[in-house]
Amino acid sequence: MGKSYPTVSEEYQKAIEKARRKLRALIAEKNCAPLMLRLAWHSAGTFDVQSKTGGPFGTMRHKAEQGHAANNGIDIAVRLLEPLKEQFPILSYADFYQLAGVVAVEVTGGPEVPFHPGRPDKEEPPQEGRLPDATKGCDHLRQVFVKQMGLSDKDIVVLPGGHTLGRCHKERSGFDGPWTSNPLIFDNSYFKELLTGDKEGLLQLPSDKALLEGPVFRPLVEKYAADEDVFFADYAEAHLKLSELGFAEV
Ligand code: HEM
Repeated sequence: MGKSYPTVSEEYQKAIEKARRKLRALIAEKNCAPLMLRLAWHSAGTFDVQSKTGGPFGTMRHKAEQGHAANNGIDIAVRLLEPLKEQFPILSYADFYQLAGVVAVEVTGGPEVPFHPGRPDKEEPPQEGRLPDATKGCDHLRQVFVKQMGLSDKDIVVLPGGHTLGRCHKERSGFDGPWTSNPLIFDNSYFKELLTGDKEGLLQLPSDKALLEGPVFRPLVEKYAADEDVFFADYAEAHLKLSELGFAEV
């Protein structure tokens, strides 16, 4: 699908650059890169390609969407960002949340994900139940990523590489523990650990383990575990697509 990005004013572009610097500082101060990446992903991952509803359009600012079961804990990210967002009334929440996701990857040592401003804020939160279920396997991941979001098999494997950051919290998801031993560093260790198998102190969700199955998914896991540069290049491309689902499409 082609993209035709809207032109934003010089004032808007300047606000983006300033917000980017302020976000770097906030994320460093609060060590909240993982939660910011999860916020950006949960905002965008509700997109439905058929109905063109959901997606990265700032609806997570509404309590109703923060209250979806899959979003437990996301209210903390929204609250952390609010004082900063107030300094940039010109920016849409949609752009602000996606910018936070891009900055989270950057400041933890991950690839630079291109960012195009101009997402509008929408009012209507998506239906609940569109984000993937961690207890399910390949068929479910294809249903959500490919059929619903309009992404690819490659995206199904590369995007959960975001689990290189952060951890599961018992009181939020019922799962407990980090995927890697350095959860504030964005690297390819998620894929290395996936191939190593269960290890004391680390966790793999059923949906993570599903990536070890089949002739399409597993070779990609092996490639990303072996070559971080390839992972970074593919991740940046997939994150960009995720952050722009339903945006600037022609
Ligand atoms: C493939 C489907 C996915 C499933 C089923 C899934 C599931 C989960 C679950 C259950 C948690 C734990 C939440 C908590 O207890 O705090 C989590 C955390 C997280 N997820 Fe995913 N996830 C998926 C894909 C992704 C993607 C595509 C990204 C980003 C590109 C991502 C980024 C994160 C991050 C950064 C955290 C850590 C948050 C924190 O430390 O507070 N996930 N995910």
